[in-house]
Amino acid sequence: MERKEFIQQCGKICLGGILMGGLLESCAGNYYATTTLANDQIAIKKSEFFEVKNGISKPRKYVLVKNEKLSFPISVYKINEDTYSALYMECTHNSCELNPNGDFLICPCHGSEFSNLGKVQNPPAETDLKKYNVISDHENIYIQLS
Ligand code: FES
Repeated sequence: MERKEFIQQCGKICLGGILMGGLLESCAGNYYATTTLANDQIAIKKSEFFEVKNGISKPRKYVLVKNEKLSFPISVYKINEDTYSALYMECTHNSCELNPNGDFLICPCHGSEFSNLGKVQNPPAETDLKKYNVISDHENIYIQLS
């Protein structure tokens, strides 16, 4: 193998490693919460917004919720101690499922981007995401489906 080929191969391997690391990192952040459904409300324990590893509690910015009544998941962002944002993860441009990425939701189809409050940040989508009302008590939050 020539020196130039060797350097090109190393560059490709490094680039692949960087891309895979980014993919794994974004997947690692997606946590599906355990929920219960009653009276058209999805209940989530507030403790789901914390991850405990090796005895250390770490906050989660968001959790994902799946339910058989819904075609797409809901992403639930913790905005502050008592405020949560529940967003239907269907892109308003052409109905692709969005990917949460930190404080944003990104569409893999054409690149639209939405804030954690569901506001369009980047086109081609022009309409904000569907939001659900969220209420809470001392232990749970409740997403109202209707
Ligand atoms: S479907 Fe999401 S940007 Fe087109």
